[in-house]
Amino acid sequence: MTETRVDHVPAPGQVVRAGPYAVANVDGTLHAVDRLCRHQGGDLSRGRLDAQGCLVCPWHFAAYDLDDGKMVRGPKGFLWIRRRIPGYDRFVQAYARYLPLRRGRVERRGDRTVVV
Ligand code: FES
Repeated sequence: MTETRVDHVPAPGQVVRAGPYAVANVDGTLHAVDRLCRHQGGDLSRGRLDAQGCLVCPWHFAAYDLDDGKMVRGPKGFLWIRRRIPGYDRFVQAYARYLPLRRGRVERRGDRTVVV
């Protein structure tokens, strides 16, 4: 089984990069999901957590539920455009339904934190 070390464990409300994962701390619970946004590959480890504990992509603000990896809000725009385009968010969210973010399990192993 491959494991990825989490060098910097995020504080509550933070998101960090750990290899292919974005690791987020939601109220003390660590979640690990694939770093690549299903829209256009934005780096989700550079995203932020919203008030509901969803991970928001830094590029066009699509949001993901960290419990199941599903996109719960579609993107606002594409490429360099960062504003809502009528219907586009729902279109992307519809195809993303079939491509939820892969999730990892965060474990503490001695003095290390890893994603498996
Ligand atoms: S790349 Fe993530 S919302 Fe566009």
